[in-house]
Amino acid sequence: MPAPAEQHEWWQRGIVYQIYPRSFRDHSGDGVGDLPGVIEKLDYLQWLGIDALWLSPIYPSPMADFGYDVSDYCDIHPLFGTLADFDRLLAEAHRRGLKVILDFVPNHTSDQHPWFVESNSSRTNPKRNWYIWRDPAPGGGPPNNWLSNFGGPAWRFDESTGQYYFHAFLAQQPDLNWRNPEVQQAMFNVLRFWLDRGVDGFRVDVIYHIVKDDQFRDNPRNPNYKPGQNPHHEFLATYIADRPEVHDIIGGMRKVIDEYDSRMLVGEIYLPVERLVTYYGEGGQGVHMPFNFQLITMSWNARTISNAIQHYEASLPSYGWPNWVLGNHDNSRIASRIGRPQARVAAMLLLTLRGTPTMYYGDEIGMSDVPIAPEQVQDPFEKNVPGLGLGRDPERTPMQWDATPGAGFARSSVQPWLPLASDYSTVNVVTERDDPTSFLSLYRRLIALRRAEPALHIGAHEQVATPADIGELIAYVRRAGDRRFLVVLNLSDQPQAFTPPASEATPVTGRVALSTFLDREGESTQGKIELRGNEGVIVELRSAQSNP
Ligand code: GLC
Repeated sequence: MPAPAEQHEWWQRGIVYQIYPRSFRDHSGDGVGDLPGVIEKLDYLQWLGIDALWLSPIYPSPMADFGYDVSDYCDIHPLFGTLADFDRLLAEAHRRGLKVILDFVPNHTSDQHPWFVESNSSRTNPKRNWYIWRDPAPGGGPPNNWLSNFGGPAWRFDESTGQYYFHAFLAQQPDLNWRNPEVQQAMFNVLRFWLDRGVDGFRVDVIYHIVKDDQFRDNPRNPNYKPGQNPHHEFLATYIADRPEVHDIIGGMRKVIDEYDSRMLVGEIYLPVERLVTYYGEGGQGVHMPFNFQLITMSWNARTISNAIQHYEASLPSYGWPNWVLGNHDNSRIASRIGRPQARVAAMLLLTLRGTPTMYYGDEIGMSDVPIAPEQVQDPFEKNVPGLGLGRDPERTPMQWDATPGAGFARSSVQPWLPLASDYSTVNVVTERDDPTSFLSLYRRLIALRRAEPALHIGAHEQVATPADIGELIAYVRRAGDRRFLVVLNLSDQPQAFTPPASEATPVTGRVALSTFLDREGESTQGKIELRGNEGVIVELRSAQSNP
């Protein structure tokens, strides 16, 4: 039986909402979102019912990778505001009971960061060893076959010092050398800088990348690679990611976090579940949560997802709190991946699974990817590797607040940094707020129910088998004490009836608490549950005691 709610931390009970600050709300009038814009929208976030907001990077940066190239870890980019604005945001968020999670980018800095400028200046500079410098290969050329995630070799030659530096992403994002204790201490102090200011946690960018092979061995070829795919995948990441030594470093970060009360670390890790769960660390001394991206990376199929849920649940160590992510700034939006009708089912899945849900701004109103014309491309990934559909601009477009020109993101006279979606006059917060069956109403109702019911936010998860011939359904029960909710999701666009297999003890006698169509609450259920195409339902099961 799960521990009572008060024994769970905020990041276990709550819902995380990712804000991509450039695209949330432009207060200053320059077409780019900013911190005063976020402050304006805190009432909305509170109304929506989320618990914590995660801000993608807001630090000074040349913006080669839109803030993931940091040139000063302890300040705010003037585009976004000032440290005083940040302090106000934190105070205003806390006043509303909202936690604030910052994006910590430890793998690399900007090439404009003073540390790199020094490191690059000479082979004998004291900061030379803060980055990863290597001599050319014996016959000349890069030291080995490591490739950048954003296309091309991961090594950039510096003429003046005659060595290559390593960059897992852009050449403007040189990787720090985390084997150097000075780097560790400097970066731990960055964490303390923000923790002292009162931030509640960090999302740690590509945490599994921060240590590379100390022998710089070539990566093996990927036998499954086909031309036309992301060129980075031509080789496996064997020697550039998920190295065993990374766990000691993460343990060091965790110790810093534990110097403070109730703070948390969530790591960005794209790895198979068996590897992913090792990031909880021995005895839970790693990150509090390694992001679980399966709902983003798997095909949208009931069997696949059902199996993945069971496999993930079974793989978690006893101290490992689960989590689920449906979207982020690096992946196509859920409404575009599976279609808007099915994205409502996805919302119900995300908000009824066991584990902390992370949602991406705009998904709650059903925002879709926005097509980006070649001349509008901003993302360096798309610029480096064009035409393969790898660009991330489509999912980073301005939040759609209302139907006015500018969509309430920016003044109508201002050109936003990325184009607005063409559907903003109907898909927006104001319009949907007044529509009791809208996407936004669904999200709000789901969040409210999850918050109100311990069974849904901290309860146990029990998978319910669905007969093989109705393979489009996912079914599970969430339980806390005698409160039990049966969730049945139809992943197809055809009607389906759910009858628990005879072998299952799960009764379906109860009352519909919520349907994704928001039109059958209170309906009694008995024996079987009829679902429309693209429908999910949450049924409050009658408690054992009240069963005759
Ligand atoms: C992470 C970020 C992504 C960024 C990359 C390099 O994957 O989510 O947006 O480009 O790291 O920092």
